[in-house]
Amino acid sequence: MTDQASKTAPAAKKLFIKTYGCQMNVYDSQRMAEAMSAEGYELTEDQAQADMVLLNTCHIREKAAEKLYSDLGRLKPFKAEKPDLKIGVAGCVAQAEGEEIIRRMPLVDLVVGPQTYHRLPEMLRGEAPKILTEFPEEDKFDHLPQRRATRRAPAAFLTVQEGCDKFCAFCVVPYTRGAEVSRPVDRILREARDLVERGVREITLLGQNVNGWHGAGEDGREWGFGRLIRALGEIEGLDRIRYTTSHPNDMADDLIAAHRDVPQLMPYLHLPVQSGSDRILKAMNRKHTATQYLHLIDRIREARPDIMLTSDFIVGFPGETDQDHADTLRLIEEVGFGTAFSFKYSPRPGTPAYERAEIDSAVADARLQELQALLSRQQKAAQESMIGRTLGVLFEKPGRIDGQMIGKSDYLHSVFVHAPDARAGDLVPVRIVESAPNSLRGELAA
Ligand code: 5AD
Ligand code: SF4
Repeated sequence: MTDQASKTAPAAKKLFIKTYGCQMNVYDSQRMAEAMSAEGYELTEDQAQADMVLLNTCHIREKAAEKLYSDLGRLKPFKAEKPDLKIGVAGCVAQAEGEEIIRRMPLVDLVVGPQTYHRLPEMLRGEAPKILTEFPEEDKFDHLPQRRATRRAPAAFLTVQEGCDKFCAFCVVPYTRGAEVSRPVDRILREARDLVERGVREITLLGQNVNGWHGAGEDGREWGFGRLIRALGEIEGLDRIRYTTSHPNDMADDLIAAHRDVPQLMPYLHLPVQSGSDRILKAMNRKHTATQYLHLIDRIREARPDIMLTSDFIVGFPGETDQDHADTLRLIEEVGFGTAFSFKYSPRPGTPAYERAEIDSAVADARLQELQALLSRQQKAAQESMIGRTLGVLFEKPGRIDGQMIGKSDYLHSVFVHAPDARAGDLVPVRIVESAPNSLRGELAA
């Protein structure tokens, strides 16, 4: 080594993270990247360059979980060529399968569950076990380095609540993410202010049951989620607030009222109903009926008439009949969703529904197709209803065409706009002129 070289800092090690699944995993991946940057790792987009590969996994459906093993298989030749390459598995498959992962795939160096990833640096240094999936007493957020004071993209996620106590019969989340925990008000407000100082104008509050959030407020009173949103609405420079995912049974009056009162709260609500059949909702342990959901939607629309609603649906749940399916289609017709996610039921080990007899797979496929066709028609109608309207669009990045910017409308549609002088972070009025399959086109409003 020359004198010259010995004086320069060692080249940063490279970390490649692949994120599967929900937005909370996206947030967790960012936080893990920050924890690792304190250890001298910087992010790379190129897996071949990486000194460490971290797969942040999802366990919600079988397909998502199996993806991990096929990706680990693909990493084998890289590890063979570069034995120092560290391979870590994080997230919900790590939580659910633990050492089974290393048994199946010995190339994996460490397995870390969603509640323990603050210990990732220790694990890497060999100062902690290579499998950590307990639910510790301490809050991982207290142990994570503060987000680095770099500028951020204009839209950011902020986790306020984790875990779920609802135990829907099909769902692994209560087991992989554990019991419901709300982060304290002061941390949330501090993190939000910090994000805004770094250029963030839109925050999406995250939680598996985000509207179940509660905590001791700054005034010493118990706050619900609606009150938290009001407090966030007072942060100067925070122009947009969103949240996901919500449970219908936690839509408190004050939260509904916040949709009327807080102008920064965007007119968009993801409120999964899963099914429109009371029989199936009961079997799913959802603890509400279709009528109660519809009534709730009426109240939300009363508070915010232009709100766009989205949902999740599970098709082919054990015991689902043609009549149950028809009830779901009818509920969709009645609500009119802006868009929705729909999934074929996937039996998950450890959940109550796992033992129940599955319905014919071809029947479930056909129902899923029918349901998705209806939802696409609704999505198209919702997008077309935007044509001619002037909406706020927050630009996030340049488009592929010269002079073009891509941003999100108030209703979370992607909007392409010719705006050669605009920059990411600009929030401007845009007149919508055209609807494409998954986006809108608009023109800068004078
Ligand atoms: N099979 C199919 N879909 C599921 N979801 C959760 N568990 C399952 C399962 N076992 C869907 C639900 C939930 C979304 C995140 O994933 O619709 O709202
Ligand atoms: Fe899963 Fe139901 Fe909890 Fe949502 S509310 S995370 S679907 S158990």
